[in-house]
Amino acid sequence: MRKIVLMLSALTLLCGSSAMVWATQNPKVKKEIAEYQSYFKKRFPTVGLTDYSDGVNALPQYAERRANWELLMEFPPYEADMEKARALWTKPLKSGKTLASCFNRPATKYPYFSEKTAEIRTIELDINDCLTNNGEEPIKNLKHGKMALLVAAFREQYNGQAWNIDIDSSGAVAAYEAGKKFYWAKRGQMNFSCANCHVHSAGNKLRGDVLSAGLGHTTGFPVYRTKWALKGKAWGTVHRRYGGCNKQVRAKPFSPQSKQYRALEFYEAAINTGVPLKVPSQRQ
Ligand code: HEC
Repeated sequence: MRKIVLMLSALTLLCGSSAMVWATQNPKVKKEIAEYQSYFKKRFPTVGLTDYSDGVNALPQYAERRANWELLMEFPPYEADMEKARALWTKPLKSGKTLASCFNRPATKYPYFSEKTAEIRTIELDINDCLTNNGEEPIKNLKHGKMALLVAAFREQYNGQAWNIDIDSSGAVAAYEAGKKFYWAKRGQMNFSCANCHVHSAGNKLRGDVLSAGLGHTTGFPVYRTKWALKGKAWGTVHRRYGGCNKQVRAKPFSPQSKQYRALEFYEAAINTGVPLKVPSQRQ
């Protein structure tokens, strides 16, 4: 961890943080976010902050494949599913209320630390709470299928708006620190951290894939992934992706919506302050 902090602090801050609208006032957190983002600005000078919502497609190393992706996005393979998802979002539940009526907080402010339950709340957890409070069964599968679709139906309404989560309460800062630790810690038989692949090796090739930058991560989720579609489960929440990334380094994945993955999602949201949402997205 020390090495990383040293490396990041050695970088000059290229992008001024003044242009950004910050929800957080915590100077340490703000500084770390600015340092994380300026690392990418230096590494990929032609890629602007908002471009990172395109995931790996934003990187110059992916330029050849980007044309195919753009073509695909003209007639996105997920559109029929999204129609169904939007209908479910506004369909009356047993109580007569809708899922939409339970959500007052914009998607750009998720995840958040709840003082009431003293935990990080995600859209998935709030959807299940809404369902049970309105006479319905909660959704059991938190990785793919209906849950992924509902999250997409909610998040897409905020497309183009910059992510801006609150990280000020002591509980929120503690979750941010826990997520940061997870992100930078080496794990699995291969002894890789998230940062090893998505910070230090972003843009490099790995078994035919180009590694995306951590900047932009999760802004496009849930995604429709061609590889997953081949197995009949095209949609995935971000915790499904985290599980896949843990397995790649032969580490045991945590359960979707585990405390660990919620903290990780919170940290990734924090370092993406200012990046606009772009939901859903197709991925390879
Ligand atoms: C061995 C390298 C490796 C490690 C370590 C790794 N990933 Fe990945 N990750 C990949 C590859 C390959 C992909 C697919 C191509 C891409 O988008 O980068 C990917 C994709 C992702 C995506 C999807 C990006 C998008 O927009 O579609 C997220 C989010 C992600 N990883 C998060 C993580 C997190 C968090 C960790 C740490 C728990 C992690 N990864 C660890 C290799 C890795």
